[in-house]
Amino acid sequence: MRHRFLSAFRQAFFVGLFCGHFVGTGSTMLTTQQGQNMVSRVIPVDPFDLVIFGGTGDLARRKILPALFRRFCSGQVPSGAQIIGAARAGFSTDGYRDFVAQAIREFSGGRACEDGTLEGFLSCLDYVAIDASGDQGWGDLAARITNDRVRAFYFSVGPRLFGDLAERIHSYGMASAQSRIVVEKPFGHDLDSAIALNKTLAAHFDEGQIYRIDHYLGKETVQNLMAVRFGNMLFEPLWNSQYVDHIQITVAETVGVGGRGDYYDRAGAMRDMMQNHMMQLLCLIAMEPPAKFDPDSVRDEKLKVIRALDSVEPHHIARGQYLAQDGDEFAHPSYREAVGDDRSRTESYIALKTHVSNWRWAGTPFYLRTGKRLKARSSVINVMFKDAPHSIFGEEAGRHANLLSIRLQPNEGITLKVTIKEPGQGGMRLMDVPLDMSFAEALGPDGEDPPDAYERLIMDVIRGNQTLFMRGDEVEAAWAWTDPIIAGWQARGEVPKPYDSGSAGPGDADQLMARDKREWRGINP
Ligand SMILES: NC(=O)c1ccc[n+]([C@@H]2O[C@H](COP(=O)([O-])OP(=O)(O)OC[C@H]3O[C@@H](n4cnc5c(N)ncnc54)[C@H](OP(=O)(O)O)[C@@H]3O)[C@@H](O)[C@H]2O)c1
Repeated sequence: MRHRFLSAFRQAFFVGLFCGHFVGTGSTMLTTQQGQNMVSRVIPVDPFDLVIFGGTGDLARRKILPALFRRFCSGQVPSGAQIIGAARAGFSTDGYRDFVAQAIREFSGGRACEDGTLEGFLSCLDYVAIDASGDQGWGDLAARITNDRVRAFYFSVGPRLFGDLAERIHSYGMASAQSRIVVEKPFGHDLDSAIALNKTLAAHFDEGQIYRIDHYLGKETVQNLMAVRFGNMLFEPLWNSQYVDHIQITVAETVGVGGRGDYYDRAGAMRDMMQNHMMQLLCLIAMEPPAKFDPDSVRDEKLKVIRALDSVEPHHIARGQYLAQDGDEFAHPSYREAVGDDRSRTESYIALKTHVSNWRWAGTPFYLRTGKRLKARSSVINVMFKDAPHSIFGEEAGRHANLLSIRLQPNEGITLKVTIKEPGQGGMRLMDVPLDMSFAEALGPDGEDPPDAYERLIMDVIRGNQTLFMRGDEVEAAWAWTDPIIAGWQARGEVPKPYDSGSAGPGDADQLMARDKREWRGINP
């Protein structure tokens, strides 16, 4: 009886609250498990040209091309669209189509086999052998570009080539009012390099043509965060330091640095995750309601948050490096072994406390942590509300503060913990129950998968919508906050503390919380 009562209670709440805000991309009517109808729409786009520089690289194979294929399957890539891979390797058109077919079979989650779909997609593909920093191939590429349509140039190459690409697109006459460039992370290594890169790109393209990708912003739940905050009356009045005790943002990975050791050891968790992904999540949680859901209104508000961030005190930072793990199945090297430097001082884990110094948030700490080789893969934002000011039930009934938990991965969804009476006899005893909404469950077995981040972001580029992309001044402001933190630990010669692989990170991170009489939420899959 207790079980039935609780599960009915949990089901009723969140589906009603969130499904109205689901923005899908198919043209079918979906029915949730609870029976609501949701219209999922493909927003049509005109035929376009998309050039993927680095079209043979890891990101293109794993993310960009499978994302385009899934959009093709959903009917959003119109007939006549042209996708051109470009890299130095010599491929014929057919050879590149075979290469892409293999990538799609490997990375597109089993959709490749539907009759004729893959062949249809491959027929949109072409390839040009090109050297980003020389003249080889550029005339050939320019000859294939179609006039009078959107042309997007995806820079999926190392950042040192971004300037060369921008310059050559321009000098070979491919930059038009309809041109857009998509720039992958990392966007700079520090404030100076970010300013220099912004200047280089600005010499050839307007800000409205530059799409700086942070794929976290393309995640369904991240956008739902805005729907939750600005589409409901329920939360917004409580969304401030009067009611929120603190906020925790966790991005935990189980993987190590893998084959990216060389890059990662020059970056570390602070540059690789904190300055971009975590900062963007913090902005969406903390920003004021924009006047409209349009690119500059949203980005203006995010920028104000970054500029209001307090500098971080050295004792409010915990840095760590993962240790090796033994065992047949799960054995892997330590961080230092993986990057090939047994004296490396780069962090694979960082936790810190900061404040947003404005009227809404003064006094509410934001705790952020991210790391590799942790106990579970989990990205979650926890908004911890304050205790009720007075318990009318007496202390023996127990007290439970509300918690709003926004899961970005895995199992995207939202949970609100509320206090209810424990069912049954025995007087007034209070307990926590989660009101739980997972997208997979809300949409039911017949639901269409929401598009992944790259699908959404690439189609936003084609549609010319910059809302989910970072503006140049945002990136610079984020570096301006990050640089002194890094300079501080470098000046003090700090060495990250070792932590066990498969743990929750170094003990220093727990002490950071314990000093404030708080605890991290568990890192759960
Ligand atoms: N992989 C990821 O998961 C990931 C995630 C986030 C961001 N990123 C960013 O995305 C970008 C690409 O990463 P990736 O992992 O795909 O790198 P990658 O596997 O090393 O691929 C690099 C690509 O660039 C091409 N390339 C290199 N030099 C070139 C030149 N001079 N002219 C033309 N093409 C050239 C390479 O092909 P050729 O050698 O044949 O020219 C290859 O196609 C990087 O900026 C990276 O930081 C990657």
